Amino acid sequence: RARPAGDGRLGFESVPATLRDAVTVPPGYEARLLYPWGAPTGIAGAMPAFAPDASNSAAEQALQAGMHHDGMHFFALDGRADRGLLVMNHEYTDEQLLHPEGARPMTADKARKSLHAMGVSVIEVELGPDGWRQVLPSRFARRIHGHTPMRIAGPARGSPLLRTAADPAGERVYGTFANCAMGVTPWGTYLSCEENFQVYFGASKEALPTAGAAQQRYGLGAGSWVDYWRVDERFDLAKNPNESNRFGWVVEIDPFDPASTPVKRTALGRKHQESATCTLTKDGRLAVYMGDDSNFEYIYKFVSRDKVRPGSDAAARAANRDLLDRGTLHVARYDDDGRGRWLELRHGLGGVDADSGFAGQAEVLIHARRAADIVGATRMDRPEWIAIDPASGEVYVTLTHNVSRGRPGMPAADAANPRAENIFGGILRWREAGGDAAATSFAWDHFALAGDPDLPGAGARYPSAEADAFGCPDGLHFDTGGLLWIQTDMSGRAIGQGPMAALGNNQMLCADPASGRIKRFLVGPSGCEVTGCVLTPDRRSLFVNIQHPGETREGTSGTPNSAWPDGTLPGSARPRSATVVVRRRDGGIVGT
Ligand code: FEO
Ligand code: CA
Ligand code: CA
Ligand code: CA
Repeated sequence: RARPAGDGRLGFESVPATLRDAVTVPPGYEARLLYPWGAPTGIAGAMPAFAPDASNSAAEQALQAGMHHDGMHFFALDGRADRGLLVMNHEYTDEQLLHPEGARPMTADKARKSLHAMGVSVIEVELGPDGWRQVLPSRFARRIHGHTPMRIAGPARGSPLLRTAADPAGERVYGTFANCAMGVTPWGTYLSCEENFQVYFGASKEALPTAGAAQQRYGLGAGSWVDYWRVDERFDLAKNPNESNRFGWVVEIDPFDPASTPVKRTALGRKHQESATCTLTKDGRLAVYMGDDSNFEYIYKFVSRDKVRPGSDAAARAANRDLLDRGTLHVARYDDDGRGRWLELRHGLGGVDADSGFAGQAEVLIHARRAADIVGATRMDRPEWIAIDPASGEVYVTLTHNVSRGRPGMPAADAANPRAENIFGGILRWREAGGDAAATSFAWDHFALAGDPDLPGAGARYPSAEADAFGCPDGLHFDTGGLLWIQTDMSGRAIGQGPMAALGNNQMLCADPASGRIKRFLVGPSGCEVTGCVLTPDRRSLFVNIQHPGETREGTSGTPNSAWPDGTLPGSARPRSATVVVRRRDGGIVGT
């Protein structure tokens, strides 16, 4: 493929795999802390400082950075590369760190604070002589969280399955949470994806089995991870069984209008939502690629009925306001011959009908996983992020891992998911027929099968001999220069030992798809996951999120193994998820 002349690629020195408890970047680069959990978001007259003992109230948390930063995008203001809105997800909470006295017992106040610590932040940032800083206050600053009123739109709006006692019409819902990966529309809105919503719903042991088969298909009824249901009936599966159907959606947010109401777009289907990566079809409609991150779940594509009205100003946002409400949802089948098909999920097609338990299209969307089962989609190794090569239009997806693959009673390895007990994950890609995102067929191959190539039997395969090894790819982002940024999420239990021993802490790598070279660019602190990144339009600043530093090998119950960013010794400070900004000391283009 032709590349622009003079565009250097991967000119930096690779960072060694390390277990250092710090953010490590290549020589000539610096990483600076920008927006840690608890930092004021910047709402005028309401900027409570972070209390290091976690004594901030629920009301204060709703005005501060949430926990567990994840997907993120930079929206330039006035077309500038040095001033913009940074919009990011806060995926989940560590209840042990969030409250002064820890997780138990759950109280109404704690549940409120916890719901306020998830969702989305909109902050304004500006590059000055001393680097990037938050604009405080900012007229754009906003926290969207688990109590923010939202609209439900699209074909499932008003469905009986979305109606609750608090919302008999099934058209409005309180809040969003479990916000993991993301997307950006051509008209300048942010798409936040609700992933593991099921862990916040529960019921008493006796009542738990009341979750029906359709709900169990989404992991509901297996017990809750955070027991909101004990203090808030909204989360009680026995008393409000439909509330859980109102989560698992893509949420559209206009970051430029802090008074706007976020909208859950049901036409895109309900899943453990990962990515809503947008691109235009050849005839100017919108295609949205989505993963569903659980073992053996699917990859989806939505294609809008209508063409996108060009532009990304307020007029374009108004003109495209309902575009995501009408279109066709597909799910992917990856055949053994390297070809694949997009299978339509439409009521009355392919056995998805009243006989198989679907009353209409609303139910097909609410129970998209079951519909996908029926049409024969390919069960994947946990599809996470999706990114599109701006040069070739090829679509890349991370399949993060799936240790259950090939175990007794579980699906066997197949061509697209070739490793049984897949501990390392990989990156798969495809080319749509005719180079058109509206196509219903494609050709696929593996970009990388991750893992330690020196380990016998690991089955690792990289696109060139010049590739730094990694495990469990998760975050994925193409910059406008065509460099592919890969972020990893090896489990805290696995980091630095066993098959992951040589791979260091979780990290971010930069790949050049043209040459197949991959170089490790950044390694995160102990226990963290690196997830969510974006470059400014001039590619001279890279924002990256460090999620859950200090998460111990035992999970979240033990003493954190990091005090990053406030302390150097574990135990000396509460570790905080945070946005970090990386620049070259010479001001040059990042990654070249
Ligand atoms: Fe929240 Fe699938 O990562
Ligand atoms: Ca992820
Ligand atoms: Ca992950
Ligand atoms: Ca994580």
